[in-house]
Amino acid sequence: SDQSAFETDVWTLTRFVIETGRQAKGATGELTQLINAMLTAIKAISSAVRKAGLAHLQGLAGAVNVTGDDVKKLDVLSNDLVINMLRASYSTCCMVSEENKELIVTPQEKRGKYVVCFDPLDGSSNIDCLASIGTIFAIYKRISEGEPTEKDALQQGNNIVCAGYALYGSATLVALSTGAGVNFFTLDPGVGEFILTERSVRIKPKGKIYSLNEGYAKYFHPSINEYLKHKKYPEDGSSPYGARYVGSMVSDIHRTIAYGGIFMYPANEKSPKGKLRLLYECNPIAFIIEQAGGLATTGTQRILDVQPESLHQRVPFVVGSPDDVNEYLSFVKKFS
Ligand code: AHM
Ligand code: MG
Repeated sequence: SDQSAFETDVWTLTRFVIETGRQAKGATGELTQLINAMLTAIKAISSAVRKAGLAHLQGLAGAVNVTGDDVKKLDVLSNDLVINMLRASYSTCCMVSEENKELIVTPQEKRGKYVVCFDPLDGSSNIDCLASIGTIFAIYKRISEGEPTEKDALQQGNNIVCAGYALYGSATLVALSTGAGVNFFTLDPGVGEFILTERSVRIKPKGKIYSLNEGYAKYFHPSINEYLKHKKYPEDGSSPYGARYVGSMVSDIHRTIAYGGIFMYPANEKSPKGKLRLLYECNPIAFIIEQAGGLATTGTQRILDVQPESLHQRVPFVVGSPDDVNEYLSFVKKFS
């Protein structure tokens, strides 16, 4: 019958999170609550992203938001959603958001033991052209007692308890890791649940794609330009690499994990530390990439080893298939 095509024992992301929480020794369920709150925010953002075009037109259903004046900008809305959902989960003590200059301290009566660093809507320059955008987050255990301080957020990526990203692409997907590999979950909009679609994801040892904003070549260090030349005019008889760059990190990273290759946002003369932020862009992605068998480096240091000094600090970022990243590092060496 028609119904038999319906899977009745599905691994949803909620189930997966509950199950891994149950298996952890001494777990109180607080992390499970936190991750579930984050997933609710992600579902709401996904729904808002899908409606963004309609929301400031005259929706088919009638006179909604005719003026568009009271429509919150998508990035502000996403930030509010994440902050409110996480606060309401009673599992955070403080948060860092790309959208907030200062540390966001949870009201005392709602505090828990976790710290969350997030970029609620990354790639916002892609919103108006309907290209894919994403949400990125990393979760840590607090280290201070008493009032939460910046110190709680300025932890090395090595201390990450759980990290993930959501990609609002042709489908909405979540990549999640609690330190035991990476799993992909795809949103089933009919049910409103993320379904496990790929278990224990592994990145290829070597890819065929390089990805960066090559428009900055004039300002790159010669080691980068030499490396790029080698990708385009290989001298060893191998084929040149393909080039792909969405300019929306979650898309570029997701493709790199799915197909292999290298993604970079290196330093350049105009941005001596690159553009991407350590706490809520680079660290969570580095954690996921490593959990999938890849590498993530500044060019001189493993990303997860970097000791953060300020909430919004930037670092040069090079990630991807291990052979590709190591090849890039050999060019760094040649020039140092
Ligand atoms: P944002 O946080 O303001 O959206 O900027 C981050 C984005 C990344 O998603 C992407 O990798 C990068 O900016 C692209 O920058 P550029 O336009 O310099 O290539
Ligand atoms: Mg961002």
